[in-house]
Order: sequence, then structure tokens, then C-alpha cells
Amino acid sequence: MTAVDRAASIEGLRRLALRRLPHFVGDYLEGGAGDGGGIRRNVDAFRKYQLLPQALAEVTPVDTSVGLFGKRYASLFGISAVGIAGIYRRHADEYLAEAARDANIPFILSGASHATIETIARIAPDHTWYQLYGAHSPAVTENMLARARDAGVKVLVYTVDYPLAPRSEVVSRTGVSMATGPNLRTLPRLVLDALCHPFWTADYLRGGGLPKLGSWAAYAPPGSNAKQIAAYYVKNWNNPQTWRDLDRIRSLWKGPMVVKGLVHADDALRAVQAGADAVTVSNHGGNKLDCMQGALDSLAQVRAGAGRDIRVFFDGGIRRGSDLIIAKAIGAEFCFTGRATIYGVAAGGLRGAKRAIDILQSDLSYTMAMIGCRTVGDITHDHVVAAS
Ligand SMILES: Cc1cc2nc3c(=O)[nH]c(=O)nc-3n(C[C@H](O)[C@H](O)[C@H](O)COP(=O)(O)O)c2cc1C
Repeated sequence: MTAVDRAASIEGLRRLALRRLPHFVGDYLEGGAGDGGGIRRNVDAFRKYQLLPQALAEVTPVDTSVGLFGKRYASLFGISAVGIAGIYRRHADEYLAEAARDANIPFILSGASHATIETIARIAPDHTWYQLYGAHSPAVTENMLARARDAGVKVLVYTVDYPLAPRSEVVSRTGVSMATGPNLRTLPRLVLDALCHPFWTADYLRGGGLPKLGSWAAYAPPGSNAKQIAAYYVKNWNNPQTWRDLDRIRSLWKGPMVVKGLVHADDALRAVQAGADAVTVSNHGGNKLDCMQGALDSLAQVRAGAGRDIRVFFDGGIRRGSDLIIAKAIGAEFCFTGRATIYGVAAGGLRGAKRAIDILQSDLSYTMAMIGCRTVGDITHDHVVAAS
């Protein structure tokens, strides 16, 4: 039994992950935007609610499954897009996809992934969703969509909350971009950090150093190495998107489309009117700004303003099974995890990814039974109260 198997909570996996990662990598994962207040607020927003169990209900067998876009998934959560994930653990995209497939939950491949869309769709043909950032070149965007479609991906997640490249105080401090890696100026400062984290460093060096952004390799100048592909990506990945772009993406993608990164009820309604099949209330895990409300508070507002008729997914701050239940009670039809599953894969590769899913899943089914809910549909607003 490894330390990862013994981890009893996502917090346990987080500690293992941070022990393995050099500070310049771990601090980036934990840093978020600005002073990191956005991440803390996302997590703390759940503490404003407490569960209100109902007794004597038929609760066994607990059924955590949820139907989405014609498929029945095993749980109320899937794995959200996390870019450049191979920096935390080489082949993290592949491990997360495999773990999601085996657990029968969706896996959203980031538009800034190290693995290619074709690789991931081969590993998890029925569970891969594809996340798109609108590239500067419309031809690149179109090609990414065509590749996702040809690879058999059914669900598109269009992320719209980054009109400019993110600003990370951690990156400003360390001088190391996670995409392009260290350079000659920053390298000497990182050597001691790397030496103190030999398992991560050995994995990094054994894999050939900076992992290649497979999703962007096809668009960078021919013959580009990993650093050159990353430099191309940094310049070209996030063209500021507008409602016109949403119309264009909608006309190009024929399958289900989720618009991710909305926190305003008017935006949610407008996205659905423009043809989105669902919206994800998300503040990019606190990576966008450090002065936004907690994502769960945005969820409550979007539900209050946009009503019950639109499909609303949610991510931000989920670390426990009870968080999934609270999000569902507040109005999320489905939830996604970013860091929780990254902690798992960073701590223990495939085994760690599976452990993170198991922890959340068993916590979810236990807590559902304890509050008197046999199915996900039984969870309602009546099961939460404001914390006293
Ligand atoms: C390191 C990191 C990288 C991310 N990369 C992406 C990305 O490439 N595309 C995207 O749509 N969201 C990205 N996100 C946001 C996540 O999809 C998700 O919204 C967020 O992590 C949820 O918050 P949580 O980490 O508290 O679960 C990223 C988040 C993190 C922490």
C-alpha cells in the first residue's frame, strides 16, 4: 500500500502532491491570480452552508449516477480542463483520461494539453470532452474543432473567461512560465529546489525535460522543439472572445456545446439563447482574478437570475463529497474538479488520479445516504441551510 492509497482525503493527496513538486511548480498550482484570494474564497464558500439530513428515507442502494447528453455517468462530477498538466506529472492527461474512463465520469481535455486530442480520445473514447480556447488564427480554431470531431469527441467545452493571458504573481516572482519552462537566467535559482524534490526532477528529466504541448505542435513552425511550441502557444492561444465568436463556434460544432467561465446570470441566459446546451459557472479556479466572489456564490446568483430552465454546471473549490452535494442543492446539475484530481495525479500518477476520484465518489455516496438521498435527483435546496 502506498502513501497515495492511504490518503483519506483530497487534502491528504494535496499534501503528498506538494511534497513531491518543486516549490516553483507547487506554488503555481496553489497560487491562482493575484494574492490567491480567489482560490481561498472558492473553497470557503462551501463553509457558508451546512447539510440538513432527513431521516427514515430509503437510501440503499445509493445511486450517484447522472445522465448528460445521452450518456449515463457514474457520478455527479467529472474532471475539468487543466492546461499544461504534464508539468505536475508526466502523462498526467493520459492518466486522468484513463482514470475517468475506468470510473465512468467525463474528462475534459484542456485546449492547452500536453497529450494530443487524438491520444486522449483513443484512451477514453466515450468519456473525453474537448475544451477549446479561441486561438488568434481562426484557421487554428477551426482545425482544433475538426480534429476533436474526427477523433470522435462528442461534447465541446468553450472557455470564454480569459480575454487576456493570466497574470500570476508566482510566475512574476519565480520568472518561470509553466508553459515554456526555465531559461538560462532562471535555471540556477531552481537547481536547489529541483534537487530537494528528486522524484519530480527524475520524472522530468527521464521524460526529456519540458513536455511538448501536443495540442499545439501541429500549428507551430515545422521542426519546433517543446520550448518553441510553447512560445508559439503563449503568443497565439487566447484571442479575446466576443459573442460573435460564440456564434461562429456554435455554427462550427454540431454536437453538444458547453460554455465555460460564466458568473453572471445575464451571460448564462444569453449563451443559452446563442445555442449553448449548458453553461459552466466557473471563475477558472481563482486563476482569473483574486477579487471575485466565491464560485459557489456565483452559482447561487446565476440560478436566482437565470431560473431553473437552463442547464448549469459548476466548478471551483470542490474538495469533498459534501461540496458536490452543496453545489447540487444550490443549483448545479453537474460538477467538475480541477485541483482535487490534479493533486491525485501529481501525487501518484494513474494510481493517484484514481484515488482522488474514489475519495470524492465514496464521500459523495456516503453523504448522500446520510442526508436521506438515494439518488442525485433527491438532493434539493431543502438539504442545505446557512451555516450558523
Ligand atoms: C493549473 C490550472 C490550469 C487550468 N487550465 C485550464 C485550461 O486549460 N482550460 C480551462 O478551461 N480551465 C482551466 N483551469 C480551470 C479549471 O478547469 C477549473 O475551472 C478550476 O480548476 C476549478 O477550480 P478548482 O481547482 O478549485 O477545482 C485550470 C485550473 C488550474 C488550477
